[in-house]
Formats: sequence, C-alpha cells, structure tokens
Amino acid sequence: MEPTLFNSDYFNTLLCTRWLSQKYLILREVNSTNSYLKARTDKPEDGFLVLAESQFNGRGQHRRMWLSDPGKNLTFSFYFKPVLPKRLHSLTIVVAHSCAKALSRITNKNIQVKWPNDLIYDGKKVGGILVESELIGDMVEKLIIGIGVNVNQRNFDPKIPSASSLINLSDNEMEFSRESILASLCIELENDLDKWNSNLPLERELIHSSLIGYGKYGKVEVNGNLTTERTKFAGICNQGFPTFVNHAGEITKYRHEQIRFFPDNPIEDNLINDVQNP
Ligand code: BTN
Repeated sequence: MEPTLFNSDYFNTLLCTRWLSQKYLILREVNSTNSYLKARTDKPEDGFLVLAESQFNGRGQHRRMWLSDPGKNLTFSFYFKPVLPKRLHSLTIVVAHSCAKALSRITNKNIQVKWPNDLIYDGKKVGGILVESELIGDMVEKLIIGIGVNVNQRNFDPKIPSASSLINLSDNEMEFSRESILASLCIELENDLDKWNSNLPLERELIHSSLIGYGKYGKVEVNGNLTTERTKFAGICNQGFPTFVNHAGEITKYRHEQIRFFPDNPIEDNLINDVQNP
C-alpha cells in the first residue's frame, strides 16, 4: 500500500506554536533535511522547518546513516537561534528530553533518552536527534536541529535489530497520525527551547527523569574506550555536561568526549537506525 502523504492542511489545524514551524516546507525527497537547511544561503529564520517524506542520505551522529522508510515516519529539521550560545552543549539532551516527553504522552509509554540523543523504548530506538551548528568565533551563524522519529514503519533492516517504531510499541494496530505527532513535538519543543533560551537554570531534575541509567552504577565508554571502573551516572551538571561519581566520591565531568554509559542492569546497546558508514 502506498504511504499517505503528509497532510499540511490537517497539520495547520493542529499547530498552535508562536515561532516553531510557523513557516515550513514539505519535500518529497531530499538527501537530508539537515543538509538541506545547511546548504540554504538565505538568512536562517528561527523556527523554519523542513520535513521530508524521504531522505536518501539521512544522517545520524558520528557519521552514521539514518534509515527511514519513505512516507511512514517523521524526518525533519528546523533552524533555531540560541540566545545563550554558551549553553550549546546542553541543547541535544534538552531536545531529546522534550521529544521523549511528547512521545510518551502520545503513546502512553515511557519513552526515555539514552545519552545523549537516542529516544528509547524497552531497549529499542524509536528516534534520534542531530544538532549541527556553524560558528563564526563564538557566534552561532546557523543552528539546525534535526529529528527522526520512527512512527508507522513496522519492519526494519535485520542488520539493525534494535530499531523500532511507535506503532511497534503501541498496544493497538492503528497507524499514528504523523501530523498530530509533529504538531505535539513542535509545541513541546517550542516551550522547552524558550525556557532553554532564557537565563533560568537547566531543569536538570526533569531531564534526569527521562535519562536512562541516571543514578545507576555502570561503566562509561569514553571516545570508544570502555573504562574498567564502575561509576555512578550523576546526570548532567548545570552546564549540561555528563557527570559521573566513583565509589570514592570523585566526580568526573566530560566536556568534549564522546560518552556512552552502560548501566549494570544492561539495556541493549542500540545501533538501531544508525548503520556505520563504510
Ligand atoms: C542519531 O540518532 O544519531 C540522530 C538521527 C537524526 C536523524 C534526523 S532525520 C531528520 C534529520 N536529517 C538528517 O539527516 N538527520 C536528522
């Protein structure tokens, strides 16, 4: 059966944001919505969103690919202008938490965040976030927030057994409305990004509530190397950096490293939609 195209008239009736997605573009096919926004030469307009029915070079973090069946899922990106560029390193986790909240509400399931950008339910990845920025000195020239959510796709490449979708975790067979999921995501994100852009402290407790492994002991992988010591994931510090405490009470904060955390009570390591580029 042919997938139904995204219905922008219906989406417009659901959207009640002030700036996010007030202007948007739906593309039948593009290499990647992040790359599309990166390549545009006009002045980035805050909240301008592009959604693609199909991406032929969808990208994930760390040069991985993002695979998504055409017309079944949500693959979109938007421009965002941070007022406080110093907070940039906390943006991915804030966006991931915001998406997890909205998707949990829609599905009535506890969708969580695996540091720093995976949306997980029951050990399977249902979505991911890719934030990319262009800086000139300390100034953010362009910032793009890209989000992929597996919505109505039932079958995934056997090479990525931990990939799943909202329909697969749902208790009934009904397809989700992509328009209503996108509208809910935009409303939640706008709210959280406005807060993030204000001078208020990060809502760390809330972020921790959706963070897998928070408060648990386990092992940390730093830039691909698994450390031997067991350590407790203390969540994010005020600046948004992942923080760990060992048995001796020593605190380690990672600022620029690629971190993965494996709690003792293991959750599957999810490669999911991310297939390593050859
Ligand atoms: C990850 O899990 O590593 C991040 C995945 C991000 C995928 C989205 S889909 C829309 C946007 N365009 C892309 O090429 N990537 C992001």
